[in-house]
Amino acid sequence: MSRLVNINGHIVPAEQANISAYDHGFLYGDGVYETLRTYQGVPFLLDGHLARLRRSAGLIRIDWERLPVEPSEEVRKTLLAADNEESLIRLAVSRGVGPLGYDPALCPKPSLLVYVQPFDQPPEALYQDGARALIVTVRRNPPAALNPYVKSMNLLNNILAAMEALEKGAEEGIMLNLSGNVAEGSNTNVFAVRGERLLTPPLAAGILDGLTREHVISLCLRAGIPCEETDIRPEELLSADECFLTSTTRELVPIVLIDGRSIGSGKPGPLTKRLLALFRAAVKEATGGHARG
Ligand code: PDD
Repeated sequence: MSRLVNINGHIVPAEQANISAYDHGFLYGDGVYETLRTYQGVPFLLDGHLARLRRSAGLIRIDWERLPVEPSEEVRKTLLAADNEESLIRLAVSRGVGPLGYDPALCPKPSLLVYVQPFDQPPEALYQDGARALIVTVRRNPPAALNPYVKSMNLLNNILAAMEALEKGAEEGIMLNLSGNVAEGSNTNVFAVRGERLLTPPLAAGILDGLTREHVISLCLRAGIPCEETDIRPEELLSADECFLTSTTRELVPIVLIDGRSIGSGKPGPLTKRLLALFRAAVKEATGGHARG
């Protein structure tokens, strides 16, 4: 098991992974990233993550063609070198190294980093018992300020939300947008269940187009479960029958308590459990029938 970092094609142990103090990713949070995980050693939805990384880079005008190495090949090489049973992967593209200043011309070459470390599956108790969330006071960056569509290395908005939740004993902070509607978690997308219907905020609410979210929506389509992308008021979330959060690392996490109030029965609900089972079955199918069932 190992933690390795691939910096522009050079793979080194995590302890020796150093970058320049003049990397604009460090200086200004000027870069974009993706988080992936493997199932059976194979990165899940790699093409989707690479497409989103490329789109994020384009939105902040980092020229993909100037990357010193080819991202999918570097992911493959780093995973092979790490030889972990399962890995957590972080892909980062920064503006690159250059003198102080905001002019992108100061950094002629972007940097590509691939972090690989062993992936620890969240404990099964999280899925059996559910987690707690807090609707935080920090609002989601509005698209007109910093489009959440850009999976930006500058995560202060998300970190402040996560900190507020953790300080109040919740595992995840749910942010509202400037209109006061539910946007997303600090690093998750939000779903609610009302009767037989699944509800989730639309992309226009100013959220990241989460790949797990997208996967859940397509599972609903296939299984004939009504799923509506619609604005959700915080009070509607609190009075929902069920709620769950989605992300690459945590799949579908049932939320049983928000702001100290029980959601539905206060236990993971039937539709959440059904969708988690469908999600895991789809992963199993996609990874050749070997993933955890
Ligand atoms: N977070 N919303 C935000 C703000 C996120 O940062 C993430 C992902 C998601 C869920 O997206 P996906 O299903 O594609 O993982 C939603 C990752 C896990 C992270 O920051 O490490």
